[in-house]
Amino acid sequence: MEVTVGVPLPILLLISLIPVTHSKSTIEPCNSSDSCVSLLYYILPYDSKLSEIAYRFGVNPFDILGANSISPKTLGDEIFKAESVVKVPIPCSCVDGIRRCMPPTYTVRPADTAASISEGFGGFVSAEQIRSRNGINATNPLTSGQSLVIPLPCTCFGNVSNGIPAVYMSYVVKSGESLSSIASEFGTTAMELEAVNGLGQAVVNSGDVLFIPISACSSANLKWYNESLIVAKGSFALTASNCIKCVCGTEDLNLRCWPSGIAPSCSQLQCKDSDLFIGDSVVNNTPFGCKVTTCIYRGHNGGKIYRSLAYSWQAPCPGNQCYNMASPSPAPSPFILTISPSPSSSPPSNPTAGTIAPNSNTTTKQNFNLSSQGTLLLLTHGAFFYTLLPLGLGLELSFFL
Ligand SMILES: *[C@@H]1O[C@H](CO)[C@@H](O)[C@H](O)[C@H]1NC(C)=O
Ligand SMILES: *[C@@H]1O[C@H](CO)[C@@H](O)[C@H](O)[C@H]1NC(C)=O
Ligand SMILES: *[C@@H]1O[C@H](CO)[C@@H](O)[C@H](O)[C@H]1NC(C)=O
Ligand SMILES: *[C@@H]1O[C@H](CO)[C@@H](O)[C@H](O)[C@H]1NC(C)=O
Ligand SMILES: *[C@@H]1O[C@H](CO)[C@@H](O)[C@H](O)[C@H]1NC(C)=O
Repeated sequence: MEVTVGVPLPILLLISLIPVTHSKSTIEPCNSSDSCVSLLYYILPYDSKLSEIAYRFGVNPFDILGANSISPKTLGDEIFKAESVVKVPIPCSCVDGIRRCMPPTYTVRPADTAASISEGFGGFVSAEQIRSRNGINATNPLTSGQSLVIPLPCTCFGNVSNGIPAVYMSYVVKSGESLSSIASEFGTTAMELEAVNGLGQAVVNSGDVLFIPISACSSANLKWYNESLIVAKGSFALTASNCIKCVCGTEDLNLRCWPSGIAPSCSQLQCKDSDLFIGDSVVNNTPFGCKVTTCIYRGHNGGKIYRSLAYSWQAPCPGNQCYNMASPSPAPSPFILTISPSPSSSPPSNPTAGTIAPNSNTTTKQNFNLSSQGTLLLLTHGAFFYTLLPLGLGLELSFFL
């Protein structure tokens, strides 16, 4: 038996409670009822429909699409091939003092063995863990129709890694892999994985479960009402009854939200006293400088979507600066770009260069988003624009809730 215990030390007291296991897995103690989102790096054991995967783990198919950055517009019940990787977002709760996924239950079928069930769940839970959690033994064997609890491993670690918002992804080590090969695949270091997983030495074996920190965008600094959202880098999440899509780009860690366009009846997508919808911005050139007005998403509660206009002053105007632009075009005056929210789920990495022509009376309507670093970002046609707009010049937020 090898049990590896992660920091902090008080955990050691829990050792006697840790179920017997043949593979290493970190245990995170917890004492609060709050949960976080975790990911399973699930290698499909057999061809499976999206709906089957969702059912197997008791999660919403839209959430699976978001975690894998697959546009919901393509939603059919497509089949994912055996051996392909599907990231399954699953709530990580506090169960009996340790972090565990709210266990999905599984109904035993006639040909099942504990080993085949373990395989079906991607090896995140060993056959032995399934047996011990459910009191299966020689005198009390698996029976068809029986309902089993599948205790999938997960961790939250306060939603941060090295001070950066993070989502933790559970990963089953494959044969031939080393800590450093896994680290380089996921953009981290062997040392980091060693620390996160409380490994005494940098050795992992096939079948061990590792937790890999994935940088994420957090709503924590965005002053949302009644909502806290953390989205792993390079993925998106649907929120507010699927009305709002929030993307975490790969280039930075800023959450960008706009109407998802997939939910049938969404209201309150437009900011009050404004023709701007969530995610839209307008730039007005005034004698005092450029006034940027943005309609931003502010959370939701009880069927109500909060949004508000945010104002900032910017100097000089966008017309006087160079931008990366997807499709450079002569700027009419006033210059209005009507931007539809990007349908593509991941931002293109290399927007082509271009400029907005200098213009003395420019009104530019684009998707902006507030970044936590105090800069505004222009977002259009699926390309992200990095602009030099210091919010320090006077951001006022006024709320129309
Ligand atoms: C709850 O757990 C956290 C993190 O493990 C710890 O810092 C805190 O002291 C605990 N609180 C109580 C009341 O045990
Ligand atoms: C099997 O488990 C049951 C409880 O689930 C226990 O009463 C019984 O003694 C166990 N039998 C063996 C052989 O361990
Ligand atoms: C982690 O994030 C979730 C939202 O995804 C939130 O509910 C929870 O309170 C956060 N936990 C901590 C410790 O910040
Ligand atoms: C939602 O947020 C508002 C404003 O912060 C607060 O007054 C209210 O109590 C919150 N409601 C819930 C259910 O958290
Ligand atoms: C600037 O644009 C506004 C409307 O956007 C218009 O009313 C005004 O006449 C324009 N000024 C000039 C100098 O073109």
